[in-house]
Amino acid sequence: MKLNPVLNKYTNAPLSLSLKRLQECSARSFELASPAPPEINHSVDFYNLEQNRIFNQEWICIGRCDEIPKAGDFLTHDIAGTSVLIVRQESNAIMGFINACAHRFTCLTSEKLGHAFAFTCPNHAWTYGINGQLNHAPFMEMKSSFNKNDNNLERLHTEVWEGFIYVTLSKNPKKGIAESLKMLSKNIVGQYDMTDYKTIIRESMNWNANWKNLIENFTESYHVPIAHPKTFANHKKRIQDYECGEDSEHYCYHFAPQESDNGPGAAHKDNKNLKGKWRRTMVDFCIFPNHLVTLMPDYLWWVSVMPKGVGEFKATWGVAVPQDILNDIAEEDHDNWVMEKIEYMNTANEEDRELVERLHQGSQSIRLPQGTYHPIEKNLWQFMKYLTKITA
Ligand code: FES
Ligand SMILES: [Fe+2]
Repeated sequence: MKLNPVLNKYTNAPLSLSLKRLQECSARSFELASPAPPEINHSVDFYNLEQNRIFNQEWICIGRCDEIPKAGDFLTHDIAGTSVLIVRQESNAIMGFINACAHRFTCLTSEKLGHAFAFTCPNHAWTYGINGQLNHAPFMEMKSSFNKNDNNLERLHTEVWEGFIYVTLSKNPKKGIAESLKMLSKNIVGQYDMTDYKTIIRESMNWNANWKNLIENFTESYHVPIAHPKTFANHKKRIQDYECGEDSEHYCYHFAPQESDNGPGAAHKDNKNLKGKWRRTMVDFCIFPNHLVTLMPDYLWWVSVMPKGVGEFKATWGVAVPQDILNDIAEEDHDNWVMEKIEYMNTANEEDRELVERLHQGSQSIRLPQGTYHPIEKNLWQFMKYLTKITA
């Protein structure tokens, strides 16, 4: 369903009104809470505030460590209009830079994923090592005051948590991401050993909705039996079995066991880490602001959501699986097996796309009832509380 961008009652809502409505909503207890006010998904001023307070400041997931295994392997990613370049070093460390030349700021590379011995700017051939140092600047010896050492790429803070690469545009991040997620690892997701999951897919898609509509969709499983008959509903998780995790400033999660101990969604027989019901339990979590993960004993699906406007976003997503699952796939079957996984995920994404776009469409109505949450939609209320705090 293609929705044309429209101006609506909320497009020009004053920022003070959007913030007041958000604060009112998240001040209520979860029992009494109502869904996010439409202003925050439609107002241009609120969108601009999000760019400054969220995407220019927070830790943003851009991919998995095993996507850049060798020195010189790199990834690029757009964060709110700023292209970032993440490069594996000889030391095995990961370094991040602004993807813009230190001469007159030409974007260095437009490749999304690649390998380089050096980065040469296409404009005047300034050349940087994979560590961001300027090594060669043609004819700049003609300028006596020029010093190569003062003209390196702009460095960014990067961090790794459970195999995911995070970067922040902030010069002085308040807190490390791994530190913020320590309890999530310890209490819930650490037992899955996500670090060792191997990437098999990386894709992206553009949808016509506010970026937060996808966060809302992903962080509740109430819709799964209805909306995913061809995919996730087949795991047969009972709505009554879902549990939502504790309140946190940095993340939210929910989880439930599936019916079967075997087959898709269950742990491999060689998996010695997961015990009891965790061998067939899925955890869905959101690392605030925009990193979504469905974690199962036999695969993980991650999404990084990036706004492209009030009513449009790009979602970059990937799938990774444990080594014991990969070991069972014969080499000659590998490509077909991956193609089947891509088709499965595309089907699941199409099941969600219309719902997410309709969330955006419906919430622009001039009049709306009060709305409410189902008990297993608590993660939406937790996300709204995060938004309230970060935009205050
Ligand atoms: S802008 Fe890159 S070398 Fe001139
Ligand atoms: Fe869904």
